[in-house]
Amino acid sequence: MDGTEIIKLCLEHSLYSWSATDAVDPLPVVRAEGVHMFDAAGRRILDFNSQLMSVNIGHSHPRVVAAMKKACDGLLFAHPGTATEIRARVSKRLADLCPGDLDVFFFTLGGAEANENAIRAARLFTGRQKILSRYRSYHGGTNAMLQLTGDPRRWANEPGMPGVIRVMDPWPLKYSFGDDPEAITRNNLTYLEEIITYEGPQTIAAMIIESVVGSNGILIPPPGYLSGLKELLSRHGILLICDEVMAGFGRTGKLFAFQHGGIVPDIVTMAKGLTSSYAPLGAVGLSRRIADHFRKNVFYGGLTYNAHPFCLEVADAVLDVLLDEDLIGNAARLEPVMRAEMEKLQARHPCVATHRNIGLFGVVELRKDSAGTPIAPYNGSHPAMQIFSQKLLDAGLYTFVRWNYFMTNPPLSISQSQLEEGFAIIDRCLDVVDEVFDG
Ligand SMILES: Cc1ncc(COP(=O)(O)O)c(C=O)c1O
Repeated sequence: MDGTEIIKLCLEHSLYSWSATDAVDPLPVVRAEGVHMFDAAGRRILDFNSQLMSVNIGHSHPRVVAAMKKACDGLLFAHPGTATEIRARVSKRLADLCPGDLDVFFFTLGGAEANENAIRAARLFTGRQKILSRYRSYHGGTNAMLQLTGDPRRWANEPGMPGVIRVMDPWPLKYSFGDDPEAITRNNLTYLEEIITYEGPQTIAAMIIESVVGSNGILIPPPGYLSGLKELLSRHGILLICDEVMAGFGRTGKLFAFQHGGIVPDIVTMAKGLTSSYAPLGAVGLSRRIADHFRKNVFYGGLTYNAHPFCLEVADAVLDVLLDEDLIGNAARLEPVMRAEMEKLQARHPCVATHRNIGLFGVVELRKDSAGTPIAPYNGSHPAMQIFSQKLLDAGLYTFVRWNYFMTNPPLSISQSQLEEGFAIIDRCLDVVDEVFDG
């Protein structure tokens, strides 16, 4: 098929996520390699978002491709009640890699299912029902996870699972706790404790957070927030679930983003980078004391594809590459390079309001005037952002453009010169947003 036919049939016979079909203009992607993808016309495009912030080791890594081919000669499926060597190997490997006593894993097919099962484990373990989550978050597209999700993807799916208490983040959109990061942490946690008091701590099983918020704008916890939060929740017998679906597996320069805060959560969830998205796999990591509860008590959860042998083989091979090639170290080393490139953009383009990154997890926010008004409001758009996004693609760079920001989340295998090349393309394309800036 040529590109036109691919697009035509995809739009005629398949639905696209979070979209009205007529508004979708999909890129016909035919192959991808390293940090690049190629469209049906053979055009090479720099992948500056690792697809959905998920292809952490880069595309089509030859070692993983070879391991996947080899896996096809082995066990392609065994029902979840069996014991397989690959399940034994990957579970033990994750137990060794995860800090603290995060030792026992339940395997799923992706992030939403991992979060669903984390909530289930928390409720069964504590005997409590309510769950705390934050507004500036995304936890997956299933019915229950959309209720924990704070962002607008929730709205059309309400009402859903009962028992969710959504709270403010330490990164408010408009209200202010001041500029002092320590005061922001202190005030946010004081406010949270008051909510816990009103809700009744004995009714709350867990709080779920993205350790570094991803699609809602790369929101990095202020100092002391993660440790203060963990201490506050523990004091009330409330479990902390860190959703590391996007931030995990090296994206922030550490294996898990919560490690920057010096904490170990009670439960961690993961997906995306676990297999670099080469195969669908998620996991819930439970601390030993929670897992021990399920030695005598039933874990009321199951999936046909739980601990799928092929997907676990992929995870094993991806972990080999991530660790052997020190890609987590590469993300940490390139953090200041990305920051310097963002600073250059800000110096050159009046439309750049602010930027931040941790490891290779980055965002640039754009404004429409010198007062700092975002170029597009929360959940809104601006024609210049659409033109900017298309211009990037035409210039050979794909990234995630949403509301008033764009992301910079390349594969962790990117080199410094490729990273700089990506920012040079962005620099050339940002003029279209500068043009609508009202100085
Ligand atoms: C933080 C976070 N949690 C959960 C999910 C859901 O994962 P999945 O789409 O694999 O179900 C996502 C997906 O983007 C995510 O970013």
